[in-house]
Amino acid sequence: MDNFKLRHICVFSIKKFMKSRKNIVFIGMMGSGKTSIGRLISKKLKLDFFDVDNYIENKLNLRIAKIFKEKGEKFFREFEEKSTLEILKKSNIVISLGGGAFLNNKVRDEILINHISFWLKWETDTIIKRIKNSQKRPLASKLSKEQLMNLIKKRSNIYAKAMYTLNCDDLSKNEIINEILKKYETKKTNN
Ligand code: S3P
Repeated sequence: MDNFKLRHICVFSIKKFMKSRKNIVFIGMMGSGKTSIGRLISKKLKLDFFDVDNYIENKLNLRIAKIFKEKGEKFFREFEEKSTLEILKKSNIVISLGGGAFLNNKVRDEILINHISFWLKWETDTIIKRIKNSQKRPLASKLSKEQLMNLIKKRSNIYAKAMYTLNCDDLSKNEIINEILKKYETKKTNN
């Protein structure tokens, strides 16, 4: 075999190998179950799990609500971008994003180009019921119901760019998990 052919085969194999090391990324509104579903999926696939909010809290040794209160949202968003891109550099892991992270252009482009993303989509009312009085979520607690509805509507157009959308309202937790695993396996074997 000549050198050219050999080099071609090597490049092809490396690209294929790199492609198969994509991460699974969960996106969606606060209260959509990104963390609990992400953790369950990581267990099923025996992959490491990273929750970005949790990662930020550990790095700063502060709860999210406190970060918003003491350092402000701008600081949080910059730290969130940096932390999310840092985690995305790892391979073959499962990641749950904070609800606002996918709105960031750099984070979104990286996810759309290099990873497998799932939007956990719920009816607006379901989300509002879950988050309205959450003390853990500074953004949700300061907005009225109408403002939250607008936020969900605006964000949904962006979440919809994810590779897969799961309409979760009509599914049990087990069905959500199975649906994700099915889509993930199909995606992996087709690459
Ligand atoms: C936010 C969602 C939160 C957290 C922060 C801001 C948002 O994460 O990052 O409170 O802008 O939607 P969860 O989606 O995990 O609650």
